[in-house]
Amino acid sequence: MTHVSPAQKQSEKALYGGTSSRRITVRDIAAAKERAEKWPMLTAYDAMTASVFDQAGIPVLLVGDSMGNCHLGYESTVPVTMDEIALLSAAVVRGTRRALVVGDLPFGSYQEGPVQALRNATRLVKEAGVGAVKLEGGERSAQQIELLVQSGIPVMAHVGLTPQSVNAYGGYPVQGRGEEAAQQLLRDAKAVQDAGAFAVVLELVPAELAAEVTRSLHIPTVGIGAGSECDAQVLVWTDMAGMTDGRVPRFVKQYAQLRQGLGDAARAFAEDVVGGTYPAEEHSFH
Ligand code: KIV
Repeated sequence: MTHVSPAQKQSEKALYGGTSSRRITVRDIAAAKERAEKWPMLTAYDAMTASVFDQAGIPVLLVGDSMGNCHLGYESTVPVTMDEIALLSAAVVRGTRRALVVGDLPFGSYQEGPVQALRNATRLVKEAGVGAVKLEGGERSAQQIELLVQSGIPVMAHVGLTPQSVNAYGGYPVQGRGEEAAQQLLRDAKAVQDAGAFAVVLELVPAELAAEVTRSLHIPTVGIGAGSECDAQVLVWTDMAGMTDGRVPRFVKQYAQLRQGLGDAARAFAEDVVGGTYPAEEHSFH
């Protein structure tokens, strides 16, 4: 019998870099927290990009309502509809084999109460095939989370800055600053954990507070603009890969400049066409 060392066993199970090719589940996410393993998450909005990230080993892909700004040309996430999320979530599921795909519940699809949340989350699970859903809000969304979890739908929660409330904030301010706001954030994080969420996104909160939340929860925290102590980190893929036009938030690190590269490719194609050098002989049929 081949001897398998504990380190090998660990790497077999690792969310990123693990050798198992079956689809990641929320049990794998819970086990990673127990091993104190950090993991990456990216957004995806179409099958082709999702397949690139899946083959790169990204274990969790979020079909975020950030598709509003990054994919559909809206000014914010607020106008995104259930039809749009369902259509693009199905594409991301089709483009992946291993990643856990999380579908975002858009603004207006769960705020009425648990029954509305269950109806829309069920649609994403049945129609699009997502393995989990995400919704915004701490204490205010706990009842929705509880019913979804009781009904068999894993929920990723989202506290700190919740972009669907942009009109109430009047922008995208850092959350949890000051004693009272910090205590509220801790209560929100605890409330979603108690309601049964399997993970919680912490958006735009001071690093020290995010570290405290991470230490105090048994579910993983997924940071975005929340410092380095979270269990996982998420970025909007178009920001991470340099596709976004104009400024990106300060917390973003850009790992490529795809916008520049794609623009260069389009210009080179156009110059070949107008100059008559494309198509060449090898691109033609006789
Ligand atoms: O919609 C989204 O992309 C998100 C992430 C930024 C967490 O909610």
